[in-house]
Amino acid sequence: MKKVNKIKWGIIGLGNIASQFAADLLLLEDAELTAVASRNFTKAEQFGEKFNASRIYNSYDLILEDKEVEIIYIATPHNSHAELAIKALEKGKHVLCEKPMALSYEDAERMITASKKHNKFFMEAFWTRFIPSIQDVLEKVKSGAIGNINYINADFAFYGSETENKRLFDKELGGGALFDIGVYPLFLSYILLGNPKEIIAKAIMHQNKVDLQTSIILQYENAQSILHASIVSDSEMKASISGTKGKFHLNSPWYIADGYSLFENGVEEAVFSLPALGKGYTHEAIECHNCIRNNKIESELWSHQNSLDLSKIVEEIKTQIGLSFA
Ligand SMILES: NC(=O)c1ccc[n+]([C@@H]2O[C@H](COP(=O)([O-])OP(=O)(O)OC[C@H]3O[C@@H](n4cnc5c(N)ncnc54)[C@H](OP(=O)(O)O)[C@@H]3O)[C@@H](O)[C@H]2O)c1
Repeated sequence: MKKVNKIKWGIIGLGNIASQFAADLLLLEDAELTAVASRNFTKAEQFGEKFNASRIYNSYDLILEDKEVEIIYIATPHNSHAELAIKALEKGKHVLCEKPMALSYEDAERMITASKKHNKFFMEAFWTRFIPSIQDVLEKVKSGAIGNINYINADFAFYGSETENKRLFDKELGGGALFDIGVYPLFLSYILLGNPKEIIAKAIMHQNKVDLQTSIILQYENAQSILHASIVSDSEMKASISGTKGKFHLNSPWYIADGYSLFENGVEEAVFSLPALGKGYTHEAIECHNCIRNNKIESELWSHQNSLDLSKIVEEIKTQIGLSFA
């Protein structure tokens, strides 16, 4: 059997999501976690030991000089994504950058420009785009299973703790519900219905000037999406996509749904079970591998333009709710 060369990953910022992603990389035979970088050497050593990375750095700059590393996964708070991604691309690395890729549309554009200029793959890590249940729902919607979509309802809410989830409440780090989790329901509406004609958003703000909760209506020609994100309340985290002929109901939590149901005239007609591999980050990593192996600088499933469109929608909401990271 032909031996496939492993894609060599480096991770920058060894926090919560970096651990989850690294655990998923271990499930992929053609992935190797080659190097990790933290601001703290001991932390990097421990992380490296846990996830089999042998090259350890206590500097984000140094990992970018490592010729062994092919693709950098950026897992730092949102405020540092743009500069780190651009630097990595300049150093000839491919980049998978955590969502939201940037705090402004302007920064998002700079990142895409850098990818094109240096001819290196770049993708915003919108993992939900690649999980089996979402892939399946998108295919079925495309083939007309529920007719034309006229209503989407999706939310993402949980009780954030100001002591345990400091990042979420910190304006300097790009905190707040909209940028951290509001992008998920926006993603769902965008991927199904495209760019809205009109956006209406209202938020409740924290004294730190980040949004605690934000509610959004996206108005399309013949459809509406009602979306919500909150770091101070709870929700069922289900999503429904209602069309002229039927409705899909994604299992909770919908952004990593292990399946979905099809309803017709209010009756559950079919149940589909489609669990993700690992924690679900494997699927986006596989997409990175496919693109890199095929010399593509962007994914067709979550393209540069998709990221830019989403960033523009978020930018408009940011303006409407008076959120500023300047
Ligand atoms: N796709 C998903 O499901 C998902 C889930 C959660 C988060 N995310 C995204 O991933 C990014 C990181 O989130 P997280 O929850 O992993 O955050 P986290 O646990 O706070 O980890 C972030 C890491 O970034 C590094 N960092 C660099 N500058 C920092 C600073 N000024 N303050 C704090 N940390 C700093 C730190 O690593 P070192 O100390 O090692 O340098 C830290 O451990 C965010 O953009 C978030 O939106 C995505």
